[in-house]
Amino acid sequence: MKVYFNGHVMDDQEVHISFDDRGFLFADGVYEVVHIYSGHFFEWDRHMVRLARSLKGIDLEGVNIAAITEGAKQLLQDFKEEEGALYLEITRGVYPRSHPFPPSDVPPTILMWIRPVNPFPQEMIDHGVGVITVADDRWAKVWIKTIGLLPNVLAKEKAHKMGMFDAVFVRDGMVTEATSANVFMVRQGYLQTAPVTNYILPGITREVVLEIADELRIPIKLEPFSVDDMLSADEIFLTGTTTEVLPVTSVDGHTISDKSGEIALRLLKALKERAS
Ligand code: PDD
Repeated sequence: MKVYFNGHVMDDQEVHISFDDRGFLFADGVYEVVHIYSGHFFEWDRHMVRLARSLKGIDLEGVNIAAITEGAKQLLQDFKEEEGALYLEITRGVYPRSHPFPPSDVPPTILMWIRPVNPFPQEMIDHGVGVITVADDRWAKVWIKTIGLLPNVLAKEKAHKMGMFDAVFVRDGMVTEATSANVFMVRQGYLQTAPVTNYILPGITREVVLEIADELRIPIKLEPFSVDDMLSADEIFLTGTTTEVLPVTSVDGHTISDKSGEIALRLLKALKERAS
């Protein structure tokens, strides 16, 4: 597999990451995941805008986004599958372990690769998935797409151990987002999702789905909602780069519906059309 590593595309076997890398030592870095459909990146520019914001959010300077874009294009030329996902990670570079930032001449570590993504089984699309709710004990800068994802990993694992697909975070009684996706519901005639605050990652798919819903004249409400609201919703779904639009049909063991919602499926279809 080809990997972009600090300015060069090389074989994955040639990549060596130091144990002094700040990503390894402190989770001191940020990342992006971009979906590839039929040989092109979906919403590349928006991902780069969010990347720049994340880099600013952790005061990481000296990253050339134009060079990253060129590197990504090189990787894409080598990728022959129909669908894939590019993973991009940038850390604060390599320096002997010490909490303060390294000197400014230490370059960031930049890595990218593309792997194929497998579409969800049709059964999951048709009948939806189950989620659990968990306390959102993450930090207050969730809008930064940092590689420090331990709370997300623990919550996802908890869900899997309970036989569920994902966990939905709840902060102060309100639903924030899932472990790697945003959460929407359809209730009382509105498509509703949490507004963008420090406590959610502003998903690119969330943004695109809201645009599509607007085009389809589906009324939208950007307001926080509670777990009780979710339990009385007509539909619930998740959105994300690899999740796309994924219907949710049970929450904490309570059945919302016996099959996926109509609006979720319409939005998924429209998203796929827009992406292809
Ligand atoms: N996750 N919320 C969280 C916490 C996320 O990690 C993600 C994406 C999203 C959805 O954002 P977007 O639509 O831009 O992908 C929301 C990526 C895909 C991941 O960690 O693999």
